[in-house]
Amino acid sequence: MWHFLARNKQAAVMLGLLAVAAFVVVVLATKGASIAIVENLSTETDDISNDPHLFSTYSLPSDNRFMPSIGNGHIATNVFSDTVYMNGLYNGYKGKSRRARIPAWANIRLNSTLTDHPYSPVYSLDTKQGVFTVTVDRDRSVVTQRIYAHRFYTRAIVNQIQVASKHRPDPDFLHPEIWIAIKLMPGPGSDDIVFQDPVPEILDGRTVWSVCGQTKESEDPTYQPLPVDICAYWTSVPDHLVVPQHGSRVFTFAMTADKNKTVARQELIKVLQEDGEELFDKHVEQWGRLYHQAGMQIEGNLKLAKIVNGIWYYLLSSLPAEESHQPLDRFFGLSPTGLARGGTFDDYEGHNFWDTEIWMYPTILLLYPHYAHSLLQYRLETAYVAAQLARITGHKGYRFPWESAYTGTEVTQPCCPEVAEFEQHVSGCISFAARQYLATTRDEEWLKQGGCSLVTNIADFWASRAVINYTTGLYDIKNVMGPDEDHSNVTNSAFTNVVAGYSLYLAEYVSCLCKEYYLSKAPEHYADIAWSLALPYDGEWDYHPEYAEYKRSEKIKQADVVLLGFPLQYPMNESTRANDLKYYESVTRNDGPAMTWSIHTVGILRSGDSAKAAKMFNKSYDAYVREPFKVWSELRRPDVGAVNFQTGMGGFLQAIVFGYAGLSVYLDRFEIHRAQLPPQATRLKIKGIKYLGTNLNLDIDDVDVTLTVTSVDDKWPLVLNNGKYNTTLIPGLTVTLSGEGPFTIRSAPWKDCKLPADIIGQNYLRQINV
Ligand SMILES: *[C@@H]1O[C@H](CO)[C@@H](O)[C@H](O)[C@H]1NC(C)=O
Ligand SMILES: *[C@@H]1O[C@H](CO)[C@@H](O)[C@H](O)[C@H]1NC(C)=O
Ligand SMILES: *[C@@H]1O[C@H](CO)[C@@H](O)[C@H](O)[C@H]1NC(C)=O
Ligand SMILES: *[C@@H]1O[C@H](CO)[C@@H](O)[C@H](O)[C@H]1NC(C)=O
Ligand SMILES: *[C@@H]1O[C@H](CO)[C@@H](O)[C@H](O)[C@H]1NC(C)=O
Ligand SMILES: *[C@@H]1O[C@H](CO)[C@@H](O)[C@H](O)[C@H]1NC(C)=O
Repeated sequence: MWHFLARNKQAAVMLGLLAVAAFVVVVLATKGASIAIVENLSTETDDISNDPHLFSTYSLPSDNRFMPSIGNGHIATNVFSDTVYMNGLYNGYKGKSRRARIPAWANIRLNSTLTDHPYSPVYSLDTKQGVFTVTVDRDRSVVTQRIYAHRFYTRAIVNQIQVASKHRPDPDFLHPEIWIAIKLMPGPGSDDIVFQDPVPEILDGRTVWSVCGQTKESEDPTYQPLPVDICAYWTSVPDHLVVPQHGSRVFTFAMTADKNKTVARQELIKVLQEDGEELFDKHVEQWGRLYHQAGMQIEGNLKLAKIVNGIWYYLLSSLPAEESHQPLDRFFGLSPTGLARGGTFDDYEGHNFWDTEIWMYPTILLLYPHYAHSLLQYRLETAYVAAQLARITGHKGYRFPWESAYTGTEVTQPCCPEVAEFEQHVSGCISFAARQYLATTRDEEWLKQGGCSLVTNIADFWASRAVINYTTGLYDIKNVMGPDEDHSNVTNSAFTNVVAGYSLYLAEYVSCLCKEYYLSKAPEHYADIAWSLALPYDGEWDYHPEYAEYKRSEKIKQADVVLLGFPLQYPMNESTRANDLKYYESVTRNDGPAMTWSIHTVGILRSGDSAKAAKMFNKSYDAYVREPFKVWSELRRPDVGAVNFQTGMGGFLQAIVFGYAGLSVYLDRFEIHRAQLPPQATRLKIKGIKYLGTNLNLDIDDVDVTLTVTSVDDKWPLVLNNGKYNTTLIPGLTVTLSGEGPFTIRSAPWKDCKLPADIIGQNYLRQINV
């Protein structure tokens, strides 16, 4: 079966090669440049595929940071790197904690891709099947290598090399066999893990190696008394593969890793027992299930379609498998550079930040709510450490650390103590994520299993942080830093105070939802604190200064106040919103991180200025996406910063889902407002939007915006209102949304609980001038 499929694929690749080869010749001839110079000049390598799911190239990026990653939420690697990382495997004390490097016993290279050869390999990342392939068309054979992190056998990274002879019998040839030289390149030993000596054994007729070790340093002995065990198995790799002259063969190599030796061993046994093609099919089937549940499709703008497909591929590669051969370990969150990176300071060491909840989470929540649940679960599991952090800093409730890794203790780098000390808004961001989760799922089980406590304890923290100011009669939150890390130790950061206020309000609401089973109710005055929290507002310019002491025209690092409008959807006058957007656009540094401009795009789209939005949208991705594998950098070209920057990717998806498609989530409703196509696209389809158990497909084209209901949850019957009429959503229903909207979808209120006021702001009415 492998053979049949593979041969058809080869034919396709070969046809593609002919077409592309002609193209390359033309380009080279007109440019008059040699390949060597072209490669030397830039990291921009052409993606030669017209398939929106496939990124193909003849030459790999010269900066190998822009190589793509493969991963399954348990184990991941950057293709051809010497490093494998595993979910929850960190080494180093507190600020030194980083992902622990496992040598890449999965990094197998074809010699013809390492040294000078007459053959030109084609490299492809297939975002649909979750596989990286190398195809080398040789004189007598075609060699295809597949590299993937198995999404069912989740401990395994698999290499499959197929050698197919071209059936050209040559009686004069002395060596009728085909030899393909390969090389295992695991890199040096690990600085993070003390490994014992590798031990060989025969498993299922194959020589395999195993090695066990332990991480060197505990992250925090209070929460992690022991080092973490890690075991890896890998198949022995010969220096060449031999195939008979007329034959075709598939060679399967695998590496497995787990904290538990038996699990790693069992996994390798199963992988080796599977027929090669079935093994691959099981992997592809899992990816297929993910894309069956939900997805985004763009037509008419191939570049955009590819970027979006790349983003979902990279995000899902760092999220746990839904089904796996053996039970999964706990999940340790989404870090700004995903699971395949995080060993270095530049890559944020695999830590979790507010990036998860504010940037990556919102679109994941709408399409894959069970993954939003997994992300919240990581916070719940580390909440007892957040309780300690609040206590030792003299506060109450849960204070989540700015950076969090294995234990949930504060792991911010020693370089930058001020972010850990002052960026307390992370706790408010977690509460906001819980709010959005409850708004779209009404998941009562979650409330019972820690949700009530999480929300209430975060509110307790803020209540203990806010101090009454007898001059103004308002509550102040002092000594904080907003998302703008250029300004530290400020008073009344607008963003911080709004997420703090929202947290307090949410606790009041959740206390009502939880009253039958959760006894420590949030005190009633929490809503009063929120109502009276100072929110800087400048009546003269009708905008929100970033914090109390902020001087107009001071430069800032990144999106901060503009987050009030979105994602926080803080109610304000349109003029104020417009002024915030315009003003902060003018003072935001150009060399800040990627996600800022996505949020501006959402804001501008909602104000109705499509032309300006298109420019802003371009700015939100153009300089950050690196060819040919659509890997994001944190900083604009030519700067780099963190790589495979999922924070930027998450922001970009928000620009599409909440900007162009116009979706909004509120505690009592779901809205679609001014849905429109992204630039040059002829169609934008978002499949599998999940709101209160109902599955919706939104389809936007040049003519219409339609909403189709594919399934409903009888527990929460939904009604769509177009401003005039109500329509009950039933399976199979398709409605055309004509006009701007907003179109609101809602169910009956959840219990008899009063929705929070969510106004931070007597002072908004008082118009304090700064
Ligand atoms: C090619 O790369 C090398 C090493 O990075 C550099 O020294 C050289 O200047 C580059 N040549 C061109 C033409 O850019
Ligand atoms: C494959 O290439 C490596 C160098 O990268 C070399 O050491 C090895 O001998 C080659 N193997 C064969 C069989 O040619
Ligand atoms: C109270 O607020 C005013 C106005 O913002 C400020 O100048 C003053 O320092 C605050 N008082 C205290 C005790 O923080
Ligand atoms: C922060 O500001 C306070 C005054 O509000 C000051 O006492 C403290 O030293 C400052 N901390 C740092 C680290 O700058
Ligand atoms: C918001 O707009 C209303 C009406 O346009 C106006 O009365 C009110 O003063 C505005 N509020 C602020 C804070 O500018
Ligand atoms: C985006 O902006 C860049 C740089 O300003 C420009 O080169 C590119 O053509 C723009 N792309 C689109 C699709 O407008």
